[in-house]
Amino acid sequence: MSEHNPFPDEGNTGHIWDDNIRELANPVPNWWMMAFYASIAFVIGYVVIYPSIPLATSHTKGVTGWTAIGEYKAAIAEVEAIRKPFEDKIAAKTAQEILADEELSAYVEASGKVIFGDNCAACHGNGGAGNVGFPVLADDDWLYGGTIGQIQTTITNGRKGMMPAHAATLSADEISTLASYVVGLSEGKVDEKGKALFQGKACFACHGMDAKGMAALGSANLTDGIWRFNEADILASATRTITHGVNAAGDDETRNAEMPSFKDKLSEADIKKMAVYVYKFGGGK
Ligand code: HEC
Ligand code: HEC
Repeated sequence: MSEHNPFPDEGNTGHIWDDNIRELANPVPNWWMMAFYASIAFVIGYVVIYPSIPLATSHTKGVTGWTAIGEYKAAIAEVEAIRKPFEDKIAAKTAQEILADEELSAYVEASGKVIFGDNCAACHGNGGAGNVGFPVLADDDWLYGGTIGQIQTTITNGRKGMMPAHAATLSADEISTLASYVVGLSEGKVDEKGKALFQGKACFACHGMDAKGMAALGSANLTDGIWRFNEADILASATRTITHGVNAAGDDETRNAEMPSFKDKLSEADIKKMAVYVYKFGGGK
């Protein structure tokens, strides 16, 4: 810093380095000062109006009493007020009646998406499109029946199809014949040897003489070309199902297939909604 000011008339502060680098004493620009005062005014206004300054155990509330959580709750209350007449009707009606009521079923179709997304889509896919090992809900092929009542029962109580493993009771040849037979059925072929085996080995007891399945047991229709279990190719999948069964105790390779019960997870009204929602995927009958 220099003792002697070589630039006396330019209004510098007298701080000069390296002979000519100096600090000037220019005033802050007006626009900057205005913004500065405006921001002070803003803070004062904000503190008066809104909750802001933290105190030891609470905070200043502001004259309006506004809170973010209050605004959120008011918005929820508003939505609930709109929903209430619908929800009241849903609680009072059966799933059949909800389905028959055009306005209510449209409401369920629009509002059921969230419940389905939270509870069902992880297994059944978005829009009930199905996943490997989890049945499609959007088609008209049903294990347990597609009436609104049957769908409601499925969701309420859950379902667990049972088919015994046949690894110990059938020879590899017999299993192969049966697998070809059932795959052939869906292609319109009838192999007499397979048919005799199917009826002789009591497959018919669960799947029916015509192999079309029984809704009470959830025994899949084997003639429609829609395969509940189909990972690699249909023949290999059918072979595995026949060999290891479905939910067969004591067989490590058995197919696990359990629809959980929603009795304790969803309210009765939500279960009715889900029955209507699934029905309205288009496959209900
Ligand atoms: C943990 C996986 C899982 C979840 C979550 C789940 N499901 Fe299922 N669901 C299954 C399985 C597996 C089956 C087939 C059961 C069988 O094969 O015996 C099934 C079967 C069904 C069926 C019967 C299909 C038919 O063809 O008859 C309906 C209807 C159904 N689920 C609806 C729902 C709805 C609605 C929800 C949500 C509230 C839901 N599921 C949640 C696994 C699940
Ligand atoms: C105790 C009843 C029962 C018996 C006996 C039975 N099944 Fe099944 N079967 C089922 C059920 C239930 C399912 C569907 C399971 C599910 O999806 O949860 C099934 C599924 C199948 C499937 C898979 C269908 C698909 O869509 O992927 C095939 C193939 C099959 N059975 C063939 C047979 C053959 C062949 C026999 C005779 C050796 C037989 N089943 C005996 C109950 C039975």
